[in-house]
Amino acid sequence: MPMDAPSSADLDEKYWRELREKSAFAGITLDESISFADFALYGDRIAGRQMDMYRRVGGRPFGEASILDIGCGVGRLLKPFSMHFARAVGVDMNERILDAARDYIGDRVNVELVKNDGRTVPFPDNSFDYVFCGGVLQHVPDIDVIMGYFREGLRVLKPGGVLNYSVMVWMKSRKGGIEGDRVGAKIVASDLEALLNDTGHLLTAIFSDPQDPNPHFQIMLRKSAPFAAALRSIKRRISPFEITPSSVTPMKVRTGTFEDLPSYTKLRAQWASGKRKPVTFFSRPD
Ligand SMILES: C[S@@+](CC[C@H](N)C(=O)[O-])C[C@H]1O[C@@H](n2cnc3c(N)ncnc32)[C@H](O)[C@@H]1O
Repeated sequence: MPMDAPSSADLDEKYWRELREKSAFAGITLDESISFADFALYGDRIAGRQMDMYRRVGGRPFGEASILDIGCGVGRLLKPFSMHFARAVGVDMNERILDAARDYIGDRVNVELVKNDGRTVPFPDNSFDYVFCGGVLQHVPDIDVIMGYFREGLRVLKPGGVLNYSVMVWMKSRKGGIEGDRVGAKIVASDLEALLNDTGHLLTAIFSDPQDPNPHFQIMLRKSAPFAAALRSIKRRISPFEITPSSVTPMKVRTGTFEDLPSYTKLRAQWASGKRKPVTFFSRPD
């Protein structure tokens, strides 16, 4: 690679900066004509769902808990998160997007917005009760960056804390790419298996939302206490752990991520007509 070739992180930053210049909402809505009120409603609904999941798997009570939102964008979800969690921290690698988040969220004493390097999160180990990442990883073309974020999320989680990341199933290539269409790298079961084997933490759930027009799946992990994690990691090395559909706890999704949003007419039409792609998470790499 020539000395001055842009790094993957530079290309990522450029992609999101340009998107931000084109779209008031940095590409996070499916409908460019969406009103500000709809944008807020959309964010509230999705954040509500993510908080519901955290509560259902037994996360620490909101009033004493902290959340880290990785790739927080303009704060669509971080703002509603901050109305429930005692501490709400958003990281994003794009400073201009973080400026927009500052405008959108306004002055809330429990919110921190921090620029990161596109790979790591600048916080000590065991800092957060909930580490969330939504609408980000499906755009990341480098599998090492994606899996690095899983490791980083687990590192900064407190023992007993919950990690919840969403990944789209339309990710086509194993490696992903940034020529033309931006295609996120594909996570397959063995990636997650390796992560769990190494770290000894627990898979809580993998599920997809049947109403989501962009079919994606969510992966929830729970951080184990250090002793339990070390023991599990040793046991798994001796007897490799297989992730099968029966080894995860299915969670029922009530209706759909975007339910009851009457002004989302286009989106609703898309649900009605669109064929869903099957979730192929359990397949092995080619
Ligand atoms: C589609 S937006 C989603 C924003 C927010 N999570 C939401 O759901 O509203 C994706 C955001 O992720 C950020 N992003 C993309 N790749 C990233 C990376 N490798 N590290 C940190 N942030 C990243 C972008 O700058 C952008 O703000």
